[in-house]
Formats: sequence, structure tokens, C-alpha cells
Amino acid sequence: MAKPRLLVTRKLPDAVEARIRRDYDATLNPDDRIHGADDLVRLAREADGVLTCTSERWSAEVLARLPATVRIIASFSVGYEHVDLNACRKHGIVATNTPDVLTEATADVAMLCLLGAARRAWEAQVMLRERRWDRWRSTELLGLDLGGRNLGIVGMGRIGQATARRARGFGMRVHYHNRRALPEDKAEGAIHHATLEALLPRCHFLSLHAPGGADTHHLLNARTIELLPPGAVVVNTARGSLVDDAALIAALRSGRLFAAGLDVFAGEPDIHPGYHDLPNCFLLPHVGSATVETRDGMGFRALDNLDAFFAGQPVPDALT
Ligand code: 8YV
Repeated sequence: MAKPRLLVTRKLPDAVEARIRRDYDATLNPDDRIHGADDLVRLAREADGVLTCTSERWSAEVLARLPATVRIIASFSVGYEHVDLNACRKHGIVATNTPDVLTEATADVAMLCLLGAARRAWEAQVMLRERRWDRWRSTELLGLDLGGRNLGIVGMGRIGQATARRARGFGMRVHYHNRRALPEDKAEGAIHHATLEALLPRCHFLSLHAPGGADTHHLLNARTIELLPPGAVVVNTARGSLVDDAALIAALRSGRLFAAGLDVFAGEPDIHPGYHDLPNCFLLPHVGSATVETRDGMGFRALDNLDAFFAGQPVPDALT
């Protein structure tokens, strides 16, 4: 039987591409070019399925232009706001994501951001690298203790819960806001707040783990930042769209907030220029899932979904 034809929109790890080559008649992207809407539609002409990343937007308009041969779009990501699920349903396209496999790696980076921001890691790095460290001082580069402080988590899903587990290991008390309270075996003592407004005044540290999309757009803004205690620390490893950058930058500049640790940005990689020279910002280029094991795991999970689909079996991570 002929292998299914697969459009792979980005360069993927070697082990993942080896499995793709073995099992699919694939169009790969060795130069890792970013495809716009017209390129996606053109390249999909020869495809039965697509393996995409979050860098490609599968809007209603693009989906309407796809050939009828394309029946599945598997994303190499847990987030799926770049795929219009309603439009997929309309065109009978199965969409899938890669939950679970990147939970621990992303929670590790949430802690890296928390510590990097609280302990002024960027300022410390720059001081050393610019050869400005001339002596130890008792009052230099003083940060904040994590132990005994409250961490507020917005979006207590898999990654939020994994971050909470880590934070407890650092002696933090965990509060969270979710639409629904978690059962106790999952909450593990974390305190539920029914509204964001109820959570924020409790947070010495705030870590965002909600999905992107219209419902969460700019949930952190000038009004909600004002609800945080003075000197709070904000961490975002979820989606840049959750944060009103101008408001966050103003609060970091004025000292209203102590620091921020950010791995994701609106419009990335073109981040708001106000972040570039803010000393109290620990910045990472969207590396939450960037470990060898995790990126392989994401690729294999996406391929498991594609394999199941083309074998006529139930698709494990079907979103539509
Ligand atoms: C990915 C992510 O690195 O999985 C997600 O939703 O944001 C990241 O882990 C990236 O978006 C891959 O498509």
C-alpha cells in the first residue's frame, strides 16, 4: 500500500524525521523556512495530512483553501490556538496536539523563570560577562526568597500542576485560579480561587499557565497588575497573548513589580522592544519544551496520532 503523503511544515529533530521518512511519503523543510498562507496551501496540494508547528496559522481562510485530500493536521505542540478547530470540524479535518510529553520540561522552565527573575540571574550574568565584578558586596544583587511565599498559578492544568509540585519543593504555598476547583488528589493542598481578582492579591509570585486565545487575551493588564501585591514577580511560560506588554513593562520600570521571567511573547520572535533593556526581566526565547527528550517525544506523539488516523484507529489526541 502507498504511504500516506505528509506535509511537514518545519525542520524537526533527526529521530522524528527518520521515522517520518520511514513511514510517510513526506515533504520536509530542511531549510526550516517559515511558510505563509499561500505556501501552505500550495504545498498541501500533494498531501493527505500535515504535521505543523505553532509557527503556522491554520485559519478558517487557509483551511477553506486546502485540497480535500488533507484530512488531518497534527500539531507538534500542546497549544492549538493556531488551528481554527471550528473550521477543521466544518471541513472534516481531524486536528491533534501533543499533551503530556512536554509537561515536565515546561514546568522546569517555569521554575527557571521564577528563580531567574527572583534572583536577578540576568543582571548577575551580565556583570560577570562584562567583567564588572570587582568584589563581593553584602548588598549587591539582592533578590527574593521563594520559601514561605505564595505562588499563584493561573491555569492549573497539567503544566500548572507540575509547576506547583516543584514550587512546593522550594517551600512555596500554592494558590490557583481555574474555572473549576481540582479534586484534592490533583490540587495537593493548593488553594482554589474562583476568580482571577480573588487570586491576584495573594500572589507574591504569579505564574501563567492558561491557554492562548480570545478568552485569555491580556488577562494580565494594567488593572490586574494593580491587584498584585507591590513587588510581586510575574512568570509567563504559556502564551505571550496573556500579557499586555506595555502594562507589564510600565510596572517593571516603575518598580511596582520586582521582576518578570518570560519565555513567551506576543508576536515572537519580534518581542516588544521595551523588554530589551529592562534589567529586572529574565528573558528566554520560548524554550519551555526545548530538551532533546521532549522534542523527540513531541514528534513521536504527533506521529502516533497520524499513524492511528491513517490506520483507521481512534486518534489519541484528537481535538475535533
Ligand atoms: C513549542 C509550545 O516549542 O507546545 C507548545 O504549545 O508552545 C512549545 O512547546 C512550539 O510551539 C512548537 O510548535
